Amino acid sequence: MMESHAWDERLDLGDEAIDPDHHLQIALVSALADALEQRRPWMARRLVDQLAGYSAFHFSGEELLMDDSAHPQAEAHGREHKALLGQIEEIRAAVQGEEPDLALSLTLDLRTALGAHMASSDRLVVESRRAARRPE
Ligand SMILES: [Fe+2]
Ligand SMILES: [Fe+2]
Repeated sequence: MMESHAWDERLDLGDEAIDPDHHLQIALVSALADALEQRRPWMARRLVDQLAGYSAFHFSGEELLMDDSAHPQAEAHGREHKALLGQIEEIRAAVQGEEPDLALSLTLDLRTALGAHMASSDRLVVESRRAARRPE
């Protein structure tokens, strides 16, 4: 079973500063799942490194946008980012420890958790950015 084509249109939040990042993040998670399934350890290592770096970059950018729009749930949202980065580190450890089945199941869990985060917490960020831009 191939794990590609994971983008779900419901994840499009209509924010040009956030949506492109989310597309790339989900594409990296899906490519990682494919590499693990196809037993391509070298590719899996590269993808998990890329995913970790890109996710840290995206999350800190999103945290800046929250500060800028005085987002009320910024702190809780930041904790969710930390937990997601922790999940990515667990995947990295499984990839490096040559446990592709464990790494794959953690990667599929991560994709579910990321999708849920985008559809709920990230959606609220987009809404406060819109409200902050709206003229009184
Ligand atoms: Fe977020
Ligand atoms: Fe996000």
